[in-house]
Amino acid sequence: MRSEDIRVAASIGAGVIGYSWALKFAMAGLEVWAQNRTEESGALARERVRASLDSLVKNDVYSEAQAAEIAGRIHYTTSIEEAVRNAQFIQESAAEHYEVKWELVRAIEAAAASDAIVASSTSGLLVSEIAKDAAHPERFCGGHPYNPPHLIPLVEITKGERTTDETVTCAKAFYARVGMEPVVLQKEALGFICNRLQMALYREVANLVLSGVCTIEDADKAVTFGPGIRWGIMGPSLVFELGGGKGGVSGLMNHLNDSISLWLADMADWKSFPPEFAPVAQEGVDEELAARPAEIGNTPEGLADYRDHMIIEILKLHGKL
Ligand SMILES: NC(=O)c1ccc[n+]([C@@H]2O[C@H](COP(=O)([O-])OP(=O)(O)OC[C@H]3O[C@@H](n4cnc5c(N)ncnc54)[C@H](O)[C@@H]3O)[C@@H](O)[C@H]2O)c1
Repeated sequence: MRSEDIRVAASIGAGVIGYSWALKFAMAGLEVWAQNRTEESGALARERVRASLDSLVKNDVYSEAQAAEIAGRIHYTTSIEEAVRNAQFIQESAAEHYEVKWELVRAIEAAAASDAIVASSTSGLLVSEIAKDAAHPERFCGGHPYNPPHLIPLVEITKGERTTDETVTCAKAFYARVGMEPVVLQKEALGFICNRLQMALYREVANLVLSGVCTIEDADKAVTFGPGIRWGIMGPSLVFELGGGKGGVSGLMNHLNDSISLWLADMADWKSFPPEFAPVAQEGVDEELAARPAEIGNTPEGLADYRDHMIIEILKLHGKL
């Protein structure tokens, strides 16, 4: 399969992640089939698409007419067969259990073209295991998004033991074509790249808060108005390339190594979060939310609206919307 030959995509399991994939593919001009098990969950997916498009209209990304055209490219069905039979790219985002994925692999392969690419959104299951009984395991890969994929461009592509390079090349080109930023993991790593990075940072947030160095609110403020602003523009190695002056990133690592070693020795290296952190985090977030002005969100719903608005503005600056 060549990426340029993909005209129809299917999103199997159009829940929180799957509806957003369907929308992303439709935003890129593809015809899309969104599959749900029941009419009710199909209606919820349609409602989520409508709400997300409303937000994109409100944020001046699309006109009402363009949003209606995008919505018109998404077809809803409860039949896996109908969803995949004309699709060249199939994104599976069903519940995170091997039994569910195996059942879907069977149903997809029974109806899809034998060279259609099948990518799983799985957050933690192995592609080799998902495709273990597949007739064509070579066309299965992982395509792990961050929520919501129609706004967050990163997708982490993973390979199973029998995934071919051709499949990875096609998936990578296709994701790039629809406006995602694909990265390919060269070998399996639990949590992929960014879940590991997020949790490495959050482990230290927990450590700082539990050891009384700062509050949840100040840790959030420090990231948002400190390195977080730079990370939205370039990655940590490029940030350090600039931070290292003439010596670049290598100069910075050499120059600060003695100091960094002291910090690292003092930081948490836990293998799991202490159970007492969850209630502390919740209390800190509740207080932080209550203290925020309504314009930047002081309820979970308001916060989600503000997040989407700001993501859209950043994506515009990156030329991604
Ligand atoms: N939610 C996230 O932030 C996130 C991020 C990245 C990846 N993922 C991955 O995406 C996938 C879906 O997660 P979600 O959060 O959208 O879940 P969800 O519960 O919102 O959606 C799951 C969908 O799968 C369907 N489903 C459940 N059991 C099924 C079965 N037996 N047969 C067919 N369909 C079935 C449900 O009807 C629903 O449409 C998972 O693999 C998850 O690991 C989730």
